[in-house]
Amino acid sequence: MEERIRLKTEFCLSKNTEGNGLEIEELEKWTKEGISALKSINQKRWEKGFTQLPYQNEIIDIIKSLKVSKKEWENVVVAGIGGSSLGTSALFKALKPINYDLFPSTKRKGPRLFILDNPDPELCWSVLQNIKRERTIFIVISKSGETIETVSYFYLILDFLKDLKENILVITGNKGFLYEKTRSLKLQLLPFPENIPGRYSVLSVVGLLPISLLKTDISEILKGAREIADFLHQVVERDNPSILSASVLIGLFEKGKRIQVIIPYSSSLFNMTLWYCQLWAESLGKKRGNYSWGQTPYPAVGSIDQHSQLQLWVEGPKDKVITFWEIERFRKDFTIPEFKFKEFSYLEGKKLSHLLKTEKRATENSLAMNGVPSITFKIPEINPYFMGQLIYLLELQTVIAGEIIGVNPFDQPGVELGKRLTKAYME
Ligand code: PA5
Repeated sequence: MEERIRLKTEFCLSKNTEGNGLEIEELEKWTKEGISALKSINQKRWEKGFTQLPYQNEIIDIIKSLKVSKKEWENVVVAGIGGSSLGTSALFKALKPINYDLFPSTKRKGPRLFILDNPDPELCWSVLQNIKRERTIFIVISKSGETIETVSYFYLILDFLKDLKENILVITGNKGFLYEKTRSLKLQLLPFPENIPGRYSVLSVVGLLPISLLKTDISEILKGAREIADFLHQVVERDNPSILSASVLIGLFEKGKRIQVIIPYSSSLFNMTLWYCQLWAESLGKKRGNYSWGQTPYPAVGSIDQHSQLQLWVEGPKDKVITFWEIERFRKDFTIPEFKFKEFSYLEGKKLSHLLKTEKRATENSLAMNGVPSITFKIPEINPYFMGQLIYLLELQTVIAGEIIGVNPFDQPGVELGKRLTKAYME
């Protein structure tokens, strides 16, 4: 592997955070737990569906051979919610320029992406009134094929498309309403990977098909995921960032850090934090006997939230651990021009990336000085390869955390009652 995402943990320690972090012995204890957790995961590694995804290279050919991949689309519309669309949205925002959809088509060199997740009529209106049906591919995604939001959009899309059946493709499990209807209406159908819950499915056809239609190199995403997976599953020791980050976050939770703030210093990664928030919350917010475990993930973005939430993190309750995502090399950069204005002369001639990195450093230090622990993932660059690494690393971190605390990170029993009640109230 040329380069990989690294983890910095010095500011999780009590000695660097005014006594509010982990003691060295506590870090050692939790890291040992993390190591045993990964050893036991490794024993059943290939039974856990998400571990296989980086190695499924045939998916690239499958996607290339689809009828929908052979057409030039102006718009790709994904209808799906939670794990069926958050990963796509995260990759899209990370890998395309910010405000990509506002670029003229000559500059974009690929279709626009819209996501119909919320059954919010205003969202539906803003998408459907903006696109031409002939030039749009709709991808309807639902593992269960029964999710009320996605089923509602399926109805609306069928109506919108009239008889343009080749402009809709459904990704779903092998039973359920969507499966039955897709077959009876003879629509294009792809199987949702069987043993993978939505929030672990982004490296399958669920995330890779829409991203490939946007002309992004999905083989690099898989390569990044595969190379980090090889490393993470083989190097079962303290320096493994999936073990170390899971251990630190759990250790800090047990010391009262009930909230994990995730703050990338890049606007491009905000949607990746939303994907991760679902992964961490839905996988680990669980009952274990009488004990309820769950560290609330909270998305933020640097430097913007320094002017919004930082005050709370610094002076509010000491119930937070901050996870920074720091970008080492930016794809584009600007130098602040030299106008010789006396007041801000220290800015002149400096790169914007340097300012952003300095702000992260200052925030991390000021938090530590105020007794707020943090960890930092150092991401070499935002590109398909490192996004593949990031996704797999965070998935494995979450599964290790589940193993340490003794909960099943792949189910979500707590959301069932709400679904049943919605149905009952609608009938
Ligand atoms: O991670 C999960 O399993 C969930 O968040 C699902 O993705 C979400 O509830 C949507 O379910 P479905 O794909 O069945 O429509």
